[in-house]
Amino acid sequence: MTLQPILVFVRTLMQSVLHDEAIAIDATVGNGHDTVFLAKLVGEAGKVYGFDIQAEAIEVTNKRLIEEGLAERVALFQLGHENAEMVIPLEDHGNVAAAIFNLGYLPKGDKSIITKPETTISAVEQMLKMLKVGGIVVLVVYHGHDGGAEERDTLLQYVTTLNQEKFQVLQYSFINQRNHPPFVLAIEKR
Ligand SMILES: C[S@@+](CC[C@H](N)C(=O)[O-])C[C@H]1O[C@@H](n2cnc3c(N)ncnc32)[C@H](O)[C@@H]1O
Repeated sequence: MTLQPILVFVRTLMQSVLHDEAIAIDATVGNGHDTVFLAKLVGEAGKVYGFDIQAEAIEVTNKRLIEEGLAERVALFQLGHENAEMVIPLEDHGNVAAAIFNLGYLPKGDKSIITKPETTISAVEQMLKMLKVGGIVVLVVYHGHDGGAEERDTLLQYVTTLNQEKFQVLQYSFINQRNHPPFVLAIEKR
């Protein structure tokens, strides 16, 4: 297919900004697939900070990282991403090349534990502050579940009002698909 599917597009974005020694954030670790992907891209001298509120997500991801030999370059926090600014060392503020959010619930997990509008916006604001120029925050917006539409609308309202002198905002979505397909929001710091 010529048009990249949503998750392929997200990986292309990550590959374009992450290189050896880069700093990245996985704001919603879940089963750790993105955490592993980011950890490989930043190399041995890079750093990934990962957040999830569920112990299960942190445990599974930690195990995955150890198996892949990537644990040293990743710091996992069982903590809401709305605390990111507080726990990421000051020396890395302003140096973050990419942050990724996969909104909604953990696939095959507890569907009642979902990302929420207020904490998501607070976290995005913090990530935008910590980004370096040319860095990106990418959100995969799943919105078919209970609470999903509210989060989507709050987020769209927030990103469309970001100052265009400071940020470029892209929405990437397939608009003729059934069943609330996820879409991507990408925010680049200028
Ligand atoms: C769609 S899943 C993430 C999927 C993940 N990227 C993967 O590769 O498996 C969303 C995750 O966000 C987590 N979450 C919910 N609220 C959160 C918050 N305030 N801070 C960090 N993680 C949160 C959930 O526990 C869930 O694991």
